[in-house]
Amino acid sequence: MYQAQITGTGHYVPDHVVTNYDLSKVMDTSHDWIVERTGIHERRWFEAGKDTVSNMGTKAALNALENAGLEAGEVDFIIFATLSPDYYFPGSGVLVQDQLGIDNVGALDVRNQCSGFLYGLSVADQFIRTGMYRTILVIGSEIQSNIMNKSSEGRSMAVIFGDGAGAVVVQRIEEEGRGILSTHLHSEGKHADKLIVKEPSTRHKGQILERLIKGRNNDIYPYMDGKYVFKHAIKRFVEVICEALDANGFEPSDIDMLIPHQANLRIAQFVQKKLNLPDNSIWNNIQRYGNTTAGSIPIALSEAHHAGKINQGDLVCLAAFGSGFTWASALIRW
Ligand code: UT7
Repeated sequence: MYQAQITGTGHYVPDHVVTNYDLSKVMDTSHDWIVERTGIHERRWFEAGKDTVSNMGTKAALNALENAGLEAGEVDFIIFATLSPDYYFPGSGVLVQDQLGIDNVGALDVRNQCSGFLYGLSVADQFIRTGMYRTILVIGSEIQSNIMNKSSEGRSMAVIFGDGAGAVVVQRIEEEGRGILSTHLHSEGKHADKLIVKEPSTRHKGQILERLIKGRNNDIYPYMDGKYVFKHAIKRFVEVICEALDANGFEPSDIDMLIPHQANLRIAQFVQKKLNLPDNSIWNNIQRYGNTTAGSIPIALSEAHHAGKINQGDLVCLAAFGSGFTWASALIRW
């Protein structure tokens, strides 16, 4: 058995910054409400004609490859996590394969929302452990600004979500005790309707477009039962981090850097307090990017890594919770 290690990190966010004050001009909200409830000050929105989910993923991937000191041609598999793919089908992974000009390597799309990046990382870990691949790109990328209802009616969701992409290079290493130590994946589908975009759906009779344009259909917008999701999130985050620590014989105090999915600063602060982690052992950037769903962990990981906050030998924990519900963690000896 081989070990898998993250050898490069990268990210890309659109240039267009949207502040809470900008939002308060188009919907009934305020900077103070958003900061108090979520910690968010600003987020990025994509620029049509410039940014796409796949090309943002490609830019993040190129940044990660450069960080790893590799050329695109050395990649032998692509895993792409998103809830906002370029197309209904095909997936965005194949578009990245084309944009990177890598010759006919496999590309897999993952549909696990906020946990998508960690599900993808887990798949990469398994492929490398078994010897099937040596170098895998795992990408998380989202454009959510054009899915939201940007009126007062949609304010509870529109102020939270943002656009952006992150990526890592995962490679085979032959060093015991280093690399991805374990990953832990969970789901509980009975909560599917608590955080959901219902349309377009194949469930109903009749042609999709015809049905949707017949009348105003709010099911095309994301829906979240915020308080319900919040309650489950704080429980599952702590649980799945402790599961990873227990599986490897560590205590919370052994964590050098926790990168939680950036769902809400209040959730991250609750988890930090519960695990008794010092401020320099957790990385939060929701203040600047909002919740970028599958992009959030790789963007935060890349920022922390590039800022010199993650160094060789550090114990790094990644954890996510979101729509599904799905939740997951990964423990890495850097
Ligand atoms: O990434 C996937 C996982 N996601 C999460 O884990 C998110 C979990 N949930 C949350 O983060 C929080 O529930 C929210 C940030 C979404 C909402 O915070 P909350 O403290 O649960 O607020 P609320 O939804 O209960 O709304 C409180 C009030 C309501 O008004 P009333 O009924 O008290 O008069 C809302 O209508 O705030 C109102 N409100 C707003 N006011 C100003 C809702 N959205 C806004 C807004 N601006 N954007």
